[in-house]
Amino acid sequence: MNVASFFPENIKAALKNIPPGEWIPELPEDCIRLHCGYPAPALVPDKELKAAVASLLEEERDLPLHYIGSPNILKLKEQIKKRLEERGISVSEEELLITSGACQAIDLIARIILDEESIVAVESPTYMEALEIFQNYTKHLISIPVDKHGLQTDVLEEILAERKRNGLAQPRFLYTIPTFQNPTGTTMTAERRQHLLELADSYNFLIVEDDAYGELSFYKNLPTLKAMDKMSRVLHIGSFSKIVAPGMRIGWIAGAREIIHASAWFKKDLNHPFAQATMAVYLANTDFEAKLLTLRDTYRGKCAVLLSALEQYLPESASWYVPEGGYFVWMKISGVDTSKMLAAALAEGVSYIPGKYFFMNQADGTEFLRLSFSYEDEKEIAEGIRRLGRVVEAGL
Ligand SMILES: Cc1ncc(COP(=O)(O)O)c(C=O)c1O
Repeated sequence: MNVASFFPENIKAALKNIPPGEWIPELPEDCIRLHCGYPAPALVPDKELKAAVASLLEEERDLPLHYIGSPNILKLKEQIKKRLEERGISVSEEELLITSGACQAIDLIARIILDEESIVAVESPTYMEALEIFQNYTKHLISIPVDKHGLQTDVLEEILAERKRNGLAQPRFLYTIPTFQNPTGTTMTAERRQHLLELADSYNFLIVEDDAYGELSFYKNLPTLKAMDKMSRVLHIGSFSKIVAPGMRIGWIAGAREIIHASAWFKKDLNHPFAQATMAVYLANTDFEAKLLTLRDTYRGKCAVLLSALEQYLPESASWYVPEGGYFVWMKISGVDTSKMLAAALAEGVSYIPGKYFFMNQADGTEFLRLSFSYEDEKEIAEGIRRLGRVVEAGL
């Protein structure tokens, strides 16, 4: 029987896209992992989370193991609200939804806002999983380039104006990672943020602000788009994945009440009350500001090691952006197809993600690659870049 014949056309079309996770290379043993955007293992608070689980079950017995048993779930919402306030975002109970990571937040927003005809504007390059999600709902993605100051809002304006002149539909929303972008590590300037908000008003679209790395600044905290948003156009997405542990699968959306209502409607109970209750106990027992300082110091140090190794080992043909936070360094190697080079890099024992996966039009990413300094320790990072330098010098 052809079971796949039961899929409706939109699902059949989505299943023809690039398969999820295709960018993850098959790693040889002892490979230095500069591809993965995971937190440093030493910074994942396993002991503290273990203690949180123990005290949760000790105090509440079976309660946290029911659908929404633990009062700590409500507490988590309060804790997230408080953290948002510290970033200049003030939301009510009805304007905040806890999700299974930022990915579920992106998916829910796509689900409630998009149909097959909808236009979505994305940064180019952008987070590949968001590209995958949007393409599950619509084929109509428009790419707006990013330079070292983030999204090029002047290019966005030209595209919007031209669409208007030609009577074409405007995007339902623009998806942006304005702070320490994945994959470029860049941060949108204050002027561009303001410009983007004005464009959203003039051309009537929503802004989805993915702030997964926003708190991992090396130097100074930056205002979020949501904090600047007077018109409720910004749907702000956050996550504990990069600052506590990705396996907890806890993220959130802060935005207009109608959006939160519809997102909650479709989310139903597809989340993890036990993980949420555990996170609430963990946060209550943790000096999180001190934890953030440790994260920032550690990632600043790792990034510095990676950058100085790049200076030392990479030839003139390579150039890169210097990030001010987050997990990533974006590199261009002129005249090199980084997808083809990957096999040689893996054979040398170092991994990266070829740039093509971050673009709608994959050919735009041929000469680029993403390096991550988050996961490996400083010694491995330096050795990984030394190996990469050898591969680049050797040519293909
Ligand atoms: C920009 C961006 N958004 C969202 C996510 C996913 O976050 P979560 O683990 O909370 O789903 C990532 C993870 O790599 C990311 O880079």
